[in-house]
Amino acid sequence: MHAIDTTTGTDEIERVPAADGELVLRRAGEHYEIISNGCFLMDTRAGESERLLVRTAFAALDELPSLRILVGGLGVGFTLREALTEPRVEHVCVVEREAHVVRWGRGPLARFSANALDDPRVSVVTSDLVAWIRSPDTTQRFHALCLDIDNGPDWTVTDGNASLYDDAGLDALRARLLPGGVLTVWSATASPAFADRLRGRFARVTVHQVPVPRGEPDVVFVART
Ligand SMILES: C[S@@+](CC[C@H](N)C(=O)[O-])C[C@H]1O[C@@H](n2cnc3c(N)ncnc32)[C@H](O)[C@@H]1O
Repeated sequence: MHAIDTTTGTDEIERVPAADGELVLRRAGEHYEIISNGCFLMDTRAGESERLLVRTAFAALDELPSLRILVGGLGVGFTLREALTEPRVEHVCVVEREAHVVRWGRGPLARFSANALDDPRVSVVTSDLVAWIRSPDTTQRFHALCLDIDNGPDWTVTDGNASLYDDAGLDALRARLLPGGVLTVWSATASPAFADRLRGRFARVTVHQVPVPRGEPDVVFVART
């Protein structure tokens, strides 16, 4: 039986162990929310800035006829779904740490991604992205890395994720880009220090703000090699 929280009006669907804690999938009416260690991670309601994460990358790659993309992590699949709408995309590698999120993406969340995980252009690596990008095998490289694993560089969901955004993390990400490639990073906060760090390593950096109903705008950083 699912536990209904009378304060939030949500229905807890699953509570599972996860990296450094636990993950909860809960339903609120027609929608779902993913909570990581008590911290809101993603829901199925909006997704505009998550879609912009790939649209800005495609715009920066407008002269290339075919594209290999990395999406990290999966969440509810809005970013992945958007990536697959681009006809030039020939392969999307999804790196997602939590096997339960991938399972939910094939189950209750499948309709929100239009069954994106079943698309033959998609492969899933169930792995910690922070470790994966540092693996010595850098033969797998991409035209775009579209990253949304945290609430932003200044607000990570687990402590270990912080090293994705430091100097060594950015160097490792750059090494995964094909020539002319682009890195996009999602954030719920402005993170000016991160923008400066990007400018120190990439030829051109732009920052896109997406207004949200309440609070600070969402932010998408776009860094071109
Ligand atoms: C905010 S959600 C992504 C939302 C996604 N852009 C969408 O459109 O639904 C963050 C995702 O990153 C995953 N994640 C967090 N840390 C990770 C890591 N170190 N490696 C890979 N995936 C990670 C989470 O499990 C979660 O599925």
